[in-house]
Amino acid sequence: MTNHIIIGGGVIGLTLAYGLACQNESVVVLERGAGGQGTSRAAAGMLATDIELREELHALAARSRRLYPLLARRLERETGIDCGYREQPFLLKRKGREHLFPAVGQIDPRRLTTALMYALHARGISIEEQVEVTRIEESDDFVRIESNAGTWTGRTVTVAAGRGSQALLDTAGISIATYGVKGECLAVRLAGQPLRSILFDDAVYLVPKADGRILIGATELPHDETVGVSVAGVTSLLQAAERLYPPIRDAVIEEVWSGVRPQTASGLPYIGVADSSRRIFLATGHHRHGILLAPATAEVLVNTLRLIQKEEVR
Ligand code: FAD
Ligand code: GLY
Repeated sequence: MTNHIIIGGGVIGLTLAYGLACQNESVVVLERGAGGQGTSRAAAGMLATDIELREELHALAARSRRLYPLLARRLERETGIDCGYREQPFLLKRKGREHLFPAVGQIDPRRLTTALMYALHARGISIEEQVEVTRIEESDDFVRIESNAGTWTGRTVTVAAGRGSQALLDTAGISIATYGVKGECLAVRLAGQPLRSILFDDAVYLVPKADGRILIGATELPHDETVGVSVAGVTSLLQAAERLYPPIRDAVIEEVWSGVRPQTASGLPYIGVADSSRRIFLATGHHRHGILLAPATAEVLVNTLRLIQKEEVR
């Protein structure tokens, strides 16, 4: 029997799996599609701790920020993949005022999830793709996971299934309150003078990436879980981007995409053991900050899961 089952191969599930693997815990990740292709693929990768983040999350975010350079270095050493971690100026324009943060972190979320998957593979951890979990059952000694591809048993299960989490937890009689917030984004390339800072105002943000692209994001559409990018969404982003940074009008559009942020009714993520359960854990509802909060979320859960494991061995 595997010690730990993780449902969801997004940034949250993969970072947790990697944290457990680093502690030599046995772990399996079940993913209904392909790893790293959910909302995590849509993210801009800003690691901005004190901007657009609720105060209750500041400490967790600060911890994540400290962990990120270590995580990125370790992943690069183990996989050869540069996750694009770097710090750069961040110019916030709000209500007619400007505030410059001299060094705000960012990462490339697609490279990050790819590196996590390679690192897990190298450690012999299996990511079971195309496995859609349909039911979770908890008994005194183990959890039983049913899927379209068979059954798994483990000592614990962590539900890190993004927007899929609520429906899965329902099957175990655990209720959480979440909804989706669609975000549209585009990537452009601009010849000439490179943009050196992240620019952020109430309507749009511009994030220059290590590969020379500039990401322009993002719309915020609560309760919209449709796939695709609307003309209205792109138009509003481009108009706001041009107001914020006029040279962007000469840029060439390379890609447009959308994703659905997993938001909770309280506005705070669910991290930890589920109410009235000993073996079912939650790591979901990170809304606009899942990339930022992934390492600290993983750290909290790794510590808790290992503690439980030790108690059971005694
Ligand atoms: P996901 O990446 O969606 O992973 C969940 C996985 O679970 C999916 O792969 C899914 O297929 C799988 N799954 C679901 N149901 C099942 C099931 N029944 N069985 C098996 N597998 C299942 N955050 C930041 O910190 N910084 C940013 O700059 C940033 N920018 C963003 C920009 C946009 C446009 C958007 C949309 C989001 C942005 N975010 C950002 C937010 C961030 O992307 C999310 O918070 C984060 O990706 C959530 O990760 P996750 O692992 O919970 O979800
Ligand atoms: N954190 C940026 C976004 O969700 O659009």
